[in-house]
This record gives sequence, C-alpha cells and structure tokens, in this order.
Amino acid sequence: MGNQSYLLETNGITKTYKGINVVNGLSLQLEEGEIYGFLGPNGAGKTTTIRMLLGLIKPTEGNVIVFGKELTKERIAILNQVGSLVESPSYYPHLTGKDNLETLRKILQVPKSRIMEVLEMVRLTKMADRKVKEYSLGMKQRLGLAASLLGRPKLLILDEPTNGLDPAGMIEIRELIRQLPEKYGMTVLLSSHLLSEIDQVATKVGIIAKGEIIFQDQISVLREKAIRKLYIQMDDWETGQKVLSSHGIETVRQDTWLTMANQPDGKIAEIVKELVYSGLNIYRVTEEMVSLEDIFLNLTRGEETL
Ligand SMILES: Nc1ncnc2c1ncn2[C@@H]1O[C@H](COP(=O)(O)OP(=O)(O)OP(=O)(O)O)[C@@H](O)[C@H]1O
Ligand SMILES: [Mg+2]
Repeated sequence: MGNQSYLLETNGITKTYKGINVVNGLSLQLEEGEIYGFLGPNGAGKTTTIRMLLGLIKPTEGNVIVFGKELTKERIAILNQVGSLVESPSYYPHLTGKDNLETLRKILQVPKSRIMEVLEMVRLTKMADRKVKEYSLGMKQRLGLAASLLGRPKLLILDEPTNGLDPAGMIEIRELIRQLPEKYGMTVLLSSHLLSEIDQVATKVGIIAKGEIIFQDQISVLREKAIRKLYIQMDDWETGQKVLSSHGIETVRQDTWLTMANQPDGKIAEIVKELVYSGLNIYRVTEEMVSLEDIFLNLTRGEETL
C-alpha cells in the first residue's frame, strides 16, 4: 500500500483502449516539494496518465495513491487539494476571465481576493474584465493556470502548461512554476514533449515512451549521461595508450588526442596522475557532451509519434 513518504505514487497503472495498453504498468513516485517533469513524445501516454492521476478516467489495472490515500476511495478529499490544467480547459466564453474564476471560487470557497492574486501571478490582470472569447490561446492557457492555483493546492498537475505560449510567455510561466514549491509549498507535476522545457524547471524527470516509464531520476543524473567521451591530449600518445591500457582503460587515438569512455571524477584524476608519473606531458583534458535533447531522442528512438 501507499508509502507515506511519497506525495503521489502510482503502482503499475495500465490503461487499455481497444485491447491496446496505451499506458502500460506505469509506476511513478513524486516526493513533496519536487517539480516532476513528465516527458514523452506525442502519443506516449502523458495525458492518459495524467487523467488517471486526476481520477478523470479509471486505470484498467493498478492504483493511484495521493497524500498516502487511495484515489478511488477518497477521491473528493484528495482532489480538493489538487490543482490541475489538462488540455484546453473549457470556459464560459461570454463571461470575463474574472467571472470565470468566480464560478470556480464559489465551489472552492476561497476568499474573493484570491482571484486577483492568481490573475496577477499569471500576468493576466489587464485582461481580468475582458470576455474570455476575446482571449488568445496563450491567455486562455494562463487563465487555466490561474484556475489551477485558485484553491492553493498542495499538488499541482499541469499537462503541457506552456502550450500555445510565445517564448516570452513560456519563460514567465516557467519562472512562476519554478517558485511554487518554495514560495507556496506546492509540489508540481508537469508534462511536456520538449526536454529543453523540462530541463529548465524540473528537479526530477520521468520519461515515458509507448506507455512505459523508461527513465525516472533526478535531472542531474540525466545530465551526467550527457558526457559521452573523454579526450586527453599529450606529447606521446603511444606511451599514453600503453599506460592506460595497463590500467584497463581502452583508448582510441584521434589525431593528437586519446579518446576513451567517460570515467568518474576519481578515475580521471588517477589516469592523469599515471600519465604524468610515466613522464608524459599532458596538454589538455576535455570531454564531449551530448545535448540532453539527443539523450531524450536516443531513449525514445524508434517510438512512433503521432
Ligand atoms: N479515449 C481513447 N480511446 C482510444 N485511444 C486513446 C484514447 N485516449 C488516448 N488514446 C490513445 O492513447 C495514446 C496516448 O495518448 P495520450 O493523449 O495519452 O498521449 P500524449 O503523450 O498525451 O501525447 P501528446 O504529446 O500528443 O499530447 C495515443 O495513441 C492515443 O491515440
Ligand atoms: Mg497529451
């Protein structure tokens, strides 16, 4: 059953549509105060998973535990403390942004002042008294975010929150999301199909491909994978190659450089010491980086996208 230390966890959730598991035995864990980036290509199953986290659809198998309680058993109590934004939220187009939030405020029973507060947070104050049918896509997205924040939720679940925003808008919203744990004690899960976007805001990342989690860890662990090769330049590469080989490190010569697989910090220090002890002059030690985007593409390679 639920581990109290997780704010949210799923145990092998599966969603089957027409005999196909679009989400397949997915287990994810979210700790308090984290910003969890839920990353995957189009059609990977992000929205389907998020719908299950919010009790909008029922898993075919497995269960969802939020705040240590089972979602199916204590749905209302749990969802009262969860804010969400899932794919183009619906509004009353003939009402103003403020009045749309007012309808929700009555349900959530939060003070009236909270409306202008959340509108300010998403930089929509100027549009507060305009009808939503006059809003651009990005403005509607901001209003959706404002609505998700209205009840001061403990947990915020956002499906592609920067959808439809221009670059400046993306930066603003990213900034806002980044501050939520520290400023308001919220925990956030947000999805995206762009690693660059997750990279800039998330502390933890879960990568989903074809309905399965293929990576879940701190974003720093993903960054470590970004170093592919080590390069060392020295005056006598033939001797260098022998010295390294005797220490179990296979190298390939490339011009005046020896290249090898990436090594942990301690090992690199050892390698350099050995080379110097052998009388070699080291000119440069450097590394080749792979972009995080490439890592993501490699991890999800071969996956069909929509
Ligand atoms: N109600 C449904 N009936 C049948 N198939 C569905 C249904 N909902 C989703 N799917 C399928 O499940 C798969 C995952 O869809 P989902 O919307 O969860 O992907 P996603 O990761 O959110 O993609 P995107 O980045 O495009 O939003 C897709 O192949 C989709 O066609
Ligand atoms: Mg989606």
